[in-house]
Amino acid sequence: MLVRSALLTIAVTVGLLECTCGQNPVFNPIFPVVLERERSSMQGPCDDNSEQDSYDFIIVGSGPAGSVLANRLSEVEDWEILLLEAGSDGTVIMNIPYLIGQFQSTDANWQYKTIPSESKFSGLNGRQMDYPRGRGVGGSTLINYMFYVRGNSRDYDNWEEMGNPGWGYDDVLPYFKKIEDMQIPVLRDDEFHSTGGNVKVSYPPYRSKISDIFLQAGLETGSPEVDYNGKHQTGSARIQTTTVNGSRWTASRGYLYSLRDRHNFHLKKRALVKKVLINENTNTAYGVIYTKNGKDYTVRARKEVILCAGAINSPQLLMLSGVGPKDHLEELNIQVIKDLKVGYNLMDHVAFATLMFTVNVSKFPSPMKVIGDQRNFFNYYVYNNGPMTSQLGSEIVSYHDIRNNTPGWPDIEVIYFSAALLNNPQYANAFGLNMSLYADHIASIQETPAYQVFPFQMRPKSRGRITLKDSDINTPPLINPNAFSEEEDIQIQIAGIRKMIEISRTPALQSIGATLYDKPLPLCEDYEYDSDDYWRCALLNFSISVSHQCGTCKMGPESDETAVVSSRLKVHGVHNLRVVDASIFPQIISGHLQAPTYMIAEKAADFIKEDYLKPHHL
Ligand SMILES: Cc1cc2nc3c(=O)[nH]c(=O)nc-3n(C[C@H](O)[C@H](O)[C@H](O)COP(=O)(O)OP(=O)(O)OC[C@H]3O[C@@H](n4cnc5c(N)ncnc54)[C@H](O)[C@@H]3O)c2cc1C
Ligand SMILES: *[C@@H]1O[C@H](CO)[C@@H](O)[C@H](O)[C@H]1NC(C)=O
Ligand SMILES: *[C@@H]1O[C@H](CO)[C@@H](O)[C@H](O)[C@H]1NC(C)=O
Ligand SMILES: *[C@@H]1O[C@H](CO)[C@@H](O)[C@H](O)[C@H]1NC(C)=O
Ligand SMILES: *[C@@H]1O[C@H](CO)[C@@H](O)[C@H](O)[C@H]1NC(C)=O
Repeated sequence: MLVRSALLTIAVTVGLLECTCGQNPVFNPIFPVVLERERSSMQGPCDDNSEQDSYDFIIVGSGPAGSVLANRLSEVEDWEILLLEAGSDGTVIMNIPYLIGQFQSTDANWQYKTIPSESKFSGLNGRQMDYPRGRGVGGSTLINYMFYVRGNSRDYDNWEEMGNPGWGYDDVLPYFKKIEDMQIPVLRDDEFHSTGGNVKVSYPPYRSKISDIFLQAGLETGSPEVDYNGKHQTGSARIQTTTVNGSRWTASRGYLYSLRDRHNFHLKKRALVKKVLINENTNTAYGVIYTKNGKDYTVRARKEVILCAGAINSPQLLMLSGVGPKDHLEELNIQVIKDLKVGYNLMDHVAFATLMFTVNVSKFPSPMKVIGDQRNFFNYYVYNNGPMTSQLGSEIVSYHDIRNNTPGWPDIEVIYFSAALLNNPQYANAFGLNMSLYADHIASIQETPAYQVFPFQMRPKSRGRITLKDSDINTPPLINPNAFSEEEDIQIQIAGIRKMIEISRTPALQSIGATLYDKPLPLCEDYEYDSDDYWRCALLNFSISVSHQCGTCKMGPESDETAVVSSRLKVHGVHNLRVVDASIFPQIISGHLQAPTYMIAEKAADFIKEDYLKPHHL
């Protein structure tokens, strides 16, 4: 411990000697070879101090969506682009995949929580789910798990069927390929993949022995090994991650670093947008007000304002600007510019948090041991290898056709952690578990070798809603996830849990003595263990968000009264205003959200170029 903090101190000191603007150099390595590598990951654009009062496009938020748009729109030399980001740069230490989870309590997270549930989530502190959201240049890609999962072809065909021409799988596949710079040799030349794009995709260099056993167990239950981003999604796989050489590849590394010297691109950091300015006579957006260093600024958009503030903040900003449900805005004395269902249709993936299986061999060290061992940092920095390059020990995913009424369009995903996570008090606490229940139920296997699975339903029917508490931008919005409000969602999740128990009984997993940790959960002891009622109680009380919030500014035709933006992502009934981010999903997809969000923004950039550069307006 002492050695470790001494090394950290040196690292911090060395780090401070170097001053660049791409990332905060809080943690810099000790070895020269390392310095070189880390320096190359710190070449982002500097904070822009000019006080220009108008730009062609103003983009709010620099997550995967805002970063793509800033890059693509500033390719047009005549256009001046302003990107406003509420947070500042990430730090080099955040690039270490194994340390995900260490940054949730920092400034790089908005630290949202859902409103206390009346009847559910008794296993979580205050009956609230944590809803982490990245804040900083790169958005949630600064703190996310780096899983690269596009979703199923039918998800996008379904988007198109919901009234969104141009969003079918055949339309979006070229964009998924465009963003990609596939590093995995066997996939580089595959028809579903591509090289040369801005997003690096790799397998983590490190593989634990137990990960092979998970894949084998899949095979023994008829679950083939697949490229889940290819033709067939149902099956098991090593995760493809947005990393390179074992280091996190953020939206800003991918799309903003190369803009450092682009004269028509301006990035303002720690600039919180408070309001979109909309002319109430013409319903035309013409600028924004933002706060920086305690001072308010007004900037004008000559062409458009584009909201890329994410699925919580984009609807918040729209409502604060007078675009949202009339009755709700009137309650808060906000002048209504356009009555739209903003904040409705909130969707997410919600995983059961306490499904663990003890094993009789230690194939993968527990998280605290990995982080406590200096050799792992050494391996990471010098050889780009070792467990630090893994996503906190999550190495395998599997997709299951649980109901099998749509074969090939899986309804359950499972993330396998090679060492259980929530039997550690630190992680249990970080995920918001009630620690007195943890002490009763889980603490007894703190030291026991175990693996953990997070099963979650891919396309839940339940819908939540985001509303404003007041009209102040600094007040977090009220988030009602409304998870498990549909019986079908509960049934599919229970089937997913049972599937995991079945898989633990395969010869592969029995060879390491996999045993369901079956001590009944404290709030559910009245139910017979393993009955449907038991799992219902377990699920409704001990589930956590996978941080895949979306849908709150739904894309759909004007005839759809629940839609907020058109299929070209323009806000219905307001000119010169688009929303381009995870909030436009009409329906959550059978994957993770960063890949589709990059895709959406690449498509939006083309819409905008078509609208302004083609001789005929579309
Ligand atoms: C902990 C966590 C784990 C995740 N794991 C994965 C994963 O493994 N794989 C995956 O594919 N997806 C994952 N996701 C989800 C994925 O990262 C997001 O869906 C994706 O980043 C959404 O992109 P976005 O551009 O819509 O919003 P964001 O990435 O959230 O970016 C929005 C940006 O806007 C800024 N902003 C917001 N409001 C304002 C304002 N008023 N003024 C100025 N700026 C503002 C924010 O600070 C932020 O930088 C995870 C997310 C989290 C939080
Ligand atoms: C944790 O659970 C206990 C027992 O159910 C309860 O009394 C306590 O209030 C909970 N704590 C929090 C922070 O929710
Ligand atoms: C990854 O490492 C290889 C080999 O050291 C190097 O050539 C390559 O440039 C690195 N990639 C990035 C993006 O740093
Ligand atoms: C683990 O348990 C399995 C099944 O009971 C057994 O075959 C195996 O030998 C055990 N391994 C060890 C190291 O005890
Ligand atoms: C969740 O736990 C509470 C105890 O706090 C219990 O009353 C409730 O029935 C449980 N939920 C379900 C769905 O069983």
